[in-house]
Amino acid sequence: VDGGEATEMARRTVSELDAGQLNSGMDRRSCLGRLTQSLKAPVIVAPMFLVSGPALVLASSLAGVIGSLPAANARTLADLEQWLGQIAETCRPLQLPWAVNLIVHKSNSRLREEIRLLETYQPPLVITALGSPATVLEDIHAYGGAVFADVTTPALARKAVSLGVDGLVVVCAGAGGHTGEYSPFAFVPEIRRFWAGPLVVAGAISNARGIRAAQLLGADLVYMGTRFICAKESLVTDGYRNMLVASRMEDIVATKAVTGVTASFLRASLEQAGFCAEQTSGVRALDFSPERLTDAKAWRDIWAAGQGVGSVERISAVEEIVAQLLTELSLLEA
Ligand SMILES: Cc1cc2nc3c(=O)[nH]c(=O)nc-3n(C[C@H](O)[C@H](O)[C@H](O)COP(=O)(O)O)c2cc1C
Repeated sequence: VDGGEATEMARRTVSELDAGQLNSGMDRRSCLGRLTQSLKAPVIVAPMFLVSGPALVLASSLAGVIGSLPAANARTLADLEQWLGQIAETCRPLQLPWAVNLIVHKSNSRLREEIRLLETYQPPLVITALGSPATVLEDIHAYGGAVFADVTTPALARKAVSLGVDGLVVVCAGAGGHTGEYSPFAFVPEIRRFWAGPLVVAGAISNARGIRAAQLLGADLVYMGTRFICAKESLVTDGYRNMLVASRMEDIVATKAVTGVTASFLRASLEQAGFCAEQTSGVRALDFSPERLTDAKAWRDIWAAGQGVGSVERISAVEEIVAQLLTELSLLEA
């Protein structure tokens, strides 16, 4: 390889929008523009089961990041309707972005009804997880919403792109809850080989350096879950909050023992609930049926968190967490 060719190869690898021939499309970049134009930091406060409610979403979106919640967190469809109405009423006039996470796994028997409510309240972003985004694309696109798919492998990412999603959430190693296993250093560039559209990276991103590193790798936005669990506006108990503050990276265990799919939890909460991280017998099957919400013992008593937990130093309001991130970001610029 001569010098000229080497430079050309490097240019191609580095150029994020290399992608004249890649999947992207101007409409997808403009979809990103719409979602991010009012943001103070390129952050989505990740949707978290039994953690994210309307207060967390509103505080996040008002603070200049994107708030989100899993539809599954509302016990009933009437609750979900009330939550979505409350969020839309504040965010719509201010044109603030917010997101709803839909579990598209076959065990979610109320998915159709959840989609109907999204058509009414029109969250600008819908993020699908644990299944194919195909079932929701048409309905969400019909009201002008964007659909991002949460993926843990390049194969799932290619599938989602081929179905016509507007963006990808690439869940990497170290993430809280259902985690990926790939390093972001390999995963993001791998995705950028075939996808130039909106890309969110997740996994142990808990401070401004993580945000900047993700952007340097080629991401547009990051998911931050663990960093926000102990926000005052979340739905969790103080026991969970205090355990997060006391925990460091080595206190996180990734195990299949709780849901049958690898997920990261606080070790002390697993032990409190009588689980052994290495356990494989008695493993529950993945179950997102509404009934699970009334006996969601696994997630209520066993507390999920990712490897970035060491950045959680105190219980604070969302506004303070975002202010700290913004200060850190500006110090990095200086
Ligand atoms: C307590 C908890 C619950 C979660 N529940 C969901 C969920 O319901 N749906 C989903 O798509 N992801 C869920 N996740 C994953 C997050 O959306 C996100 O991928 C993860 O928090 C990112 O990693 P981080 O925690 O290291 O920032 C959950 C994560 C945590 C910590």
